[in-house]
Amino acid sequence: MIEPLPTQEVPKQSVSVVGIASRCAPYKRQPNELEAIAHRHYSSTPALEKTLEINRKTRIDHRYSVFSPDHEYWHRPTIPSFSECDSLFKEHGIPLAAEASAKAMQDWGGASNEITHLVAVTCTNTAHPGFDSMLCRKLGLKPNVRRVLLHGIGCGCGIAAMRVAHELLLGSMQQGVPARALVVGCEVPTVFARSELDIIDKSQEVNVAMCLFSDCAAALVLSNGIGRKASERLPIWNILNCEPTQFEGTEDIAYFDVHDKGYHAYIDKRIPELAGKCIPEGFRSLIASTPPLALDEKNYVPSNHGWAIHPGGYAVLVAAQKTLGLTADDLRASYDAYHDGGNTISTSIIRILEKLRNDDQKDKLVLAAIGHGITLETAVLTRPSFPRCLNA
Ligand SMILES: CC(C)(COP(=O)(O)OP(=O)(O)OC[C@H]1O[C@@H](n2cnc3c(N)ncnc32)[C@H](O)[C@@H]1OP(=O)(O)O)[C@@H](O)C(=O)NCCC(=O)NCCS
Repeated sequence: MIEPLPTQEVPKQSVSVVGIASRCAPYKRQPNELEAIAHRHYSSTPALEKTLEINRKTRIDHRYSVFSPDHEYWHRPTIPSFSECDSLFKEHGIPLAAEASAKAMQDWGGASNEITHLVAVTCTNTAHPGFDSMLCRKLGLKPNVRRVLLHGIGCGCGIAAMRVAHELLLGSMQQGVPARALVVGCEVPTVFARSELDIIDKSQEVNVAMCLFSDCAAALVLSNGIGRKASERLPIWNILNCEPTQFEGTEDIAYFDVHDKGYHAYIDKRIPELAGKCIPEGFRSLIASTPPLALDEKNYVPSNHGWAIHPGGYAVLVAAQKTLGLTADDLRASYDAYHDGGNTISTSIIRILEKLRNDDQKDKLVLAAIGHGITLETAVLTRPSFPRCLNA
């Protein structure tokens, strides 16, 4: 571990969150709709019935889909190819990402040509050029915007994107130049739902991914504060630190396998238990590596902070709550995001930040998400010290 700086030597300038927005896909799907689709295309088998039983008990009120109930995707006799899934992502996902981005930029109050960095992330598309390239054009970002597209991280990727943007903006701060980063997550897991059902039928293996994922896009704007204009929102949070931790011996616990019809998600039953162990460990490591926090014992007490935990599944939240010694109310925003849409992959954490933006009960907010690898992504944010009424 790197030795923390004494508090008085910590640089005062921060990278801040100055805009937040999400846009869920337009159609809310109830659990019984998956049941109807499954039975339309497949005979009843033990694996299908078990998956549908889990689907009824997830405690998710509805999941979001880019496809209306009468969309031909649900009714066609054939499974879409990977290439069709790619086209469907571009047709439906990119407009969603553009809407969330435009809303986040509006929230920030700056102009699209002032965006210097774009950090985009998705777990549900692999096109070259990536969706970030198309998004740049759609939003009218400058041609020399510095782009990064993250992939292959799983559900930790919303925080990972924030971490990458944070470090890029710290670099610009070092150079003394203004920098504003748009961080965008875009997920359309529904495009793989038909092939996932088919895999359940052929493999006779239960698949909880069929019960959890939802379509959504979400965006943040981060600022290094240099050259701030009057039209720009004052910081909502300052980012103190972001830290990933990869856990040994966990490589086979969660993955997306690529096949000719898309991605197949494997989610091991051990994930909730693992989350219960990894999140407290990652939290302590995060605090220990954050100079302004490391030397004060109070900062190692989870209940002294606000929390945003990626709602991978209900059992993940329950396990983390228990081992961190928190109450359900401490994780209210994470449970709410879960009930309203389930697991929206990279966008979940941004949706939780959106819910917490006016929650001032705790000065610091800890973010945590379990991703493929298994890699835990964490971050700690703090409220800026100026009066909040200036930031309405
Ligand atoms: C899916 C979920 C919401 C279901 O809630 P629940 O019904 O209260 O969950 P339970 O743990 O009681 O499990 C119910 C059944 O599902 C099965 N099940 C749970 N997780 C499973 C998994 N990952 N794969 C296959 N079956 C699973 C259990 O074995 C159990 O079967 P049983 O009734 O025959 O004993 C919950 O298990 C959950 O949140 N799991 C974590 C999902 C996860 O890891 N997400 C991370 C995604 S990146």
